[in-house]
Amino acid sequence: MGCALIGCGKALPALEVQNDELKALVDTNNEWIVTRTGIESRHIALEETNLDLAERAAREALGWDEGGWAARRVEPEEIDLVIFCTITADHLVPSAASELRMRLDLPNAIAFDLNAACTGFVYGVTVAESLMAASAAGVPGAAGRNKVRRALIVGSERLSRITDWAERSTCVLFGDGAGAGVLEWNEGRAGVLGTHLVNEDDPTGALLCPLEFDMPVPFAASGVDAGADAEAVLRERAGNPKQAITMNGQAVFKFAARAMSDAVTAVLDNAGLTLDDVACIVPHQANERIVRFAAKKLDCSMEKFHLCIAHAGNTSAASVPMGLADAYEAGRIKPGDKVVLVGFGGGFTSGALVYEA
Ligand code: ACO
Repeated sequence: MGCALIGCGKALPALEVQNDELKALVDTNNEWIVTRTGIESRHIALEETNLDLAERAAREALGWDEGGWAARRVEPEEIDLVIFCTITADHLVPSAASELRMRLDLPNAIAFDLNAACTGFVYGVTVAESLMAASAAGVPGAAGRNKVRRALIVGSERLSRITDWAERSTCVLFGDGAGAGVLEWNEGRAGVLGTHLVNEDDPTGALLCPLEFDMPVPFAASGVDAGADAEAVLRERAGNPKQAITMNGQAVFKFAARAMSDAVTAVLDNAGLTLDDVACIVPHQANERIVRFAAKKLDCSMEKFHLCIAHAGNTSAASVPMGLADAYEAGRIKPGDKVVLVGFGGGFTSGALVYEA
């Protein structure tokens, strides 16, 4: 018995921007971007909100709309849990998960957001699986506790809104999009076979996106500072926006290649499996070269990895579930296959899980 994936879906905004179009913004070219990253184009949300993208991916995963893959249609009342993995929620309050719960009209679901950067979906599925396993085990004395039998896990991002479009070392990498998966505790299925989550220090701030709360605070060490010039504080901050991703590309590259191969090795060890048992690996897609490095470290053929970075770019928490839906659509995953999902990202976070399809 276990936590089985019963549906997945994805969504990309309508506007697709080719590499060469970015030449109008920064000193770059198609050849540099393709050779260094494997990215040819990315999608940018103009009208679509993060919630809009998440809704589209979720509807496919629930079997409500065409696209993605769904073993069956899941009714709104059946969903007990929504986890929304993102670093670019439309609002701080309410949570993106609460908004999605209301948009989809899921009356029985508890809902919360999760920030594990690009590893978000792997973290989200792991948390959901743990809640399901605890519910199924019927922990003594837990009468009245929320029972979690089915969960909707979404990774959705509008990275275009935290990208500095004048900075060529980052702006060519990112895109917008969403992916979603539906999980069900099923007595007759193996489902998730192993999980492995890691957090480690990023002492130099290799991946950073500050959250600036701009309300002036009228307090001093002595207490309330009635003379604080709130307007002056605001004026100083205006025109100095800091809410954009900054990145030390090479430090992140080194961390990513190591973390990815370590996470795959660890999760397969946990599950008593080897790479030969695995039919497909869906990695976080930050850069195709990172995947090639990790594959080499693992002594694993690139054929085993499912990539769709070429026309999506790096979509952070959306990348793994979008890749997963893409792999199902491409017919790469069949019932009984063992599939590995692996992510790495800001924090630093990293992690992997293996499940039986
Ligand atoms: N177009 C043209 N030239 C560029 C561009 C660009 N867009 N960006 C940088 N360059 C130049 C640099 O200025 C540098 O020029 P110089 O030699 O004259 O100084 C040259 O290209 C080489 O720059 P490097 O930074 O050394 O290039 P590198 O081969 O390391 O590739 C890259 C850069 C692609 C960012 C790489 O470090 C990388 O992929 N890092 C991983 C980071 C990542 O993917 N992060 C995603 C977010 S985090 C996540 O998802 C986990």
